[in-house]
Amino acid sequence: MKTICLFFCLLLATYTSIKAQDSTAMLCATPPMGWNSWNLFEEKVSDSLLHEIADAMVTNGMKDAGYKYIIIDDLWTGGRDNKNRLIADPVRFPNGMKAVADYVHSKGLKLGIYSDAAPLTCGGVTGSYGFEELDAKTFASWGIDYLKYDYCNAPEDVTTAFARYKKMGDALKATGRPIVYAICEWGQRKPWLWASAAGGQLWRTTWDLRDTWQSNNKNLTGIMEVFDQQEGLTQYAGPGSWNDPDLLMVGLYGKGSSSNAGTNGKGCTPAEYKSHFALWCMLAAPLIVNSDLRHLSAETLQLLTNKDLIAVNQDSLGKQAETIYKKEDIQVLKKELANGDVAICILNRSNSPKSGLLSLQKDLDIWKPFTAAKEVFQNKTVKKTDKLSYQLEAHACTVYRMMR
Ligand code: GLA
Repeated sequence: MKTICLFFCLLLATYTSIKAQDSTAMLCATPPMGWNSWNLFEEKVSDSLLHEIADAMVTNGMKDAGYKYIIIDDLWTGGRDNKNRLIADPVRFPNGMKAVADYVHSKGLKLGIYSDAAPLTCGGVTGSYGFEELDAKTFASWGIDYLKYDYCNAPEDVTTAFARYKKMGDALKATGRPIVYAICEWGQRKPWLWASAAGGQLWRTTWDLRDTWQSNNKNLTGIMEVFDQQEGLTQYAGPGSWNDPDLLMVGLYGKGSSSNAGTNGKGCTPAEYKSHFALWCMLAAPLIVNSDLRHLSAETLQLLTNKDLIAVNQDSLGKQAETIYKKEDIQVLKKELANGDVAICILNRSNSPKSGLLSLQKDLDIWKPFTAAKEVFQNKTVKKTDKLSYQLEAHACTVYRMMR
């Protein structure tokens, strides 16, 4: 009798501890990966489009590569019903939002949505201010897994921003559903200092990224401007809390809408998209694509599913890369990885090709011994690791995984 009793006690204890682990599992232990409707679709986002995007993410191999969130951005809502509950635009979402979530979940993916900490969103439709609890409950009841919460039409001061973000953060927690909370006030109030305390797992660090390498205009954020603004933020990144330098422009080739504002409208070159993706992987940035997954070129798809780069991005240590060398348009970044390996990215910022050789010890001050180095674009491993060579066209980069 005693033995049976002990057995059941043990069983109960194990069950309770598994349950406890479940409910406290960390949201976004690694940077979120997915797709977002902004820039390319904007007010055209719809039920049927989302079905097709979810299908494409599964069939084109992106799901297997780790992408899982399908995120609906601004301009999805049709206002509130007579009980003040948010409703989806009835024309574009004839079956409501829960039906979209059910479909996305049936594909093994997760659904994200968008709102704003003011009465109106950036696109001028209904926001969540004053309805935080109700909206969080509505999102949870639909099966939403991710909320991007914008800050248009809201007061500028940080005290109000924190209070408004925390209000929604608390409301999301109170639903009991694990909903990733993406804070989007464009880095204007140093959110890396307070967004975690407001309940966020990621926070935008800059204004919206444009589909251009470099804008040379203070008010326009090309890839290089946004990249440079991540300098100094490494200490704030880690499992469950990520600096967000905005959506990936990879594969847009100037076809987006807002992403073209103020640019020459041509987008980037293939080499520039490769560097953009590699840099975002090095920065432990969220990898949220916004090109059309239904029609990706083989080259874009190969880049977006590069296993070695994704492994660097998703590494469980959660370190954001830091710059360890900058000379004559060559910039080198280093990212420590959980198993003791180190990722090194050599970027050519110049408008002309560059080649050279960098000594690990003398140039980069890295003294750790390595057994091999793998170049991740060429999928080539070399045994000699005391020097790294580069031969790079304009704006291209090379990434090595140094193996311990
Ligand atoms: C802001 C955000 C963008 C996008 C738009 C939608 O500009 O920063 O990412 O969500 O609003 O209107």
